[in-house]
Amino acid sequence: MSKLTDFAEARRKSTKMVPVPSVSIMPERDLGEAPALECVHLGIEFGGLKAVDDFNVTVGKTEICGLIGPNGAGKTTVFNLLTKVYQPTHGTIMVGGRDTAGLSPAKVNQLGVARTFQNIRLFSSLTVEENVEIGLHNQIPCGMVSGILRLPRHWKAEREFHDRAMELLDIFGMTGLADHEAGSLPYGAQRRLEIVRALATNPKLLLLDEPAAGMNPSETAELMENIVKIRDQFHIAIMLIEHDMNLVMNICEGICVLNFGKIIAKGTPEEIQRNDAVIEAYLGKQKKEVEA
Ligand SMILES: Nc1ncnc2c1ncn2[C@@H]1O[C@H](COP(=O)(O)OP(=O)(O)OP(=O)(O)O)[C@@H](O)[C@H]1O
Ligand SMILES: [Mg+2]
Repeated sequence: MSKLTDFAEARRKSTKMVPVPSVSIMPERDLGEAPALECVHLGIEFGGLKAVDDFNVTVGKTEICGLIGPNGAGKTTVFNLLTKVYQPTHGTIMVGGRDTAGLSPAKVNQLGVARTFQNIRLFSSLTVEENVEIGLHNQIPCGMVSGILRLPRHWKAEREFHDRAMELLDIFGMTGLADHEAGSLPYGAQRRLEIVRALATNPKLLLLDEPAAGMNPSETAELMENIVKIRDQFHIAIMLIEHDMNLVMNICEGICVLNFGKIIAKGTPEEIQRNDAVIEAYLGKQKKEVEA
């Protein structure tokens, strides 16, 4: 075999070529960095139903991206695909430039994808701090043997868990609630705790499924500030599903609109608000509220 053929063969083995969506936007500051997320022709079918079809999205390394659409549009299904709760029927998901094909939910979490759930899923009989520490467990190594024998290493790790949990709870001013049972917290505080627990797994991409659901207007305003603060402090990407258009239009940089499993529009908040297909399919009267 000639040198040139050897070289071509080696390159073929080491390079996986994937299709790249032709129309993508991302914040200029993230250009030149691997996107936090790239979905290419992503899709899943349940029986005959195409719940998500030809989903092409790129999220910059530090972008706050909105995923909106009417009830049943397929938004949560996208999150279930990104976190490998469902394996896609078609397409590619790249996280930080790495193909996630075949990975388990735990491996994708270790790769940097963390989420909150539309219906809160906390360990309600554990304390607030313990809930956060569960998220920390894949970050701070401490073997079972040192735990059983209560070796000094075990106590050191326990202290690190505690200190880190407190630092994270402080983002939402929740350190005073550390000893409280998670299930006893008011609804808004439980939603905030879910975000802290997801952050504890040290994500590069944080997926928030309706984080403002059930919050009152002042809690939502505070949440909005905290989402931006989290992005700025941790330099991560955040993708959020939300029906609160005020929140979406205020803090999202790129927005993707789904309807019946298909993307009907992608763009900046300004572009989305004047997109006829979006106005007709989804925003309707809310557009006026956002503009007011
Ligand atoms: N495991 C499943 N089996 C069958 N159909 C499913 C499954 N998961 C989701 N679907 C269907 O996929 C479609 C999209 O559902 P999904 O929950 O993703 O919508 P959504 O945009 O999150 O809606 P909402 O705003 O109400 O939360 C729905 O028709 C739903 O019934
Ligand atoms: Mg949903």
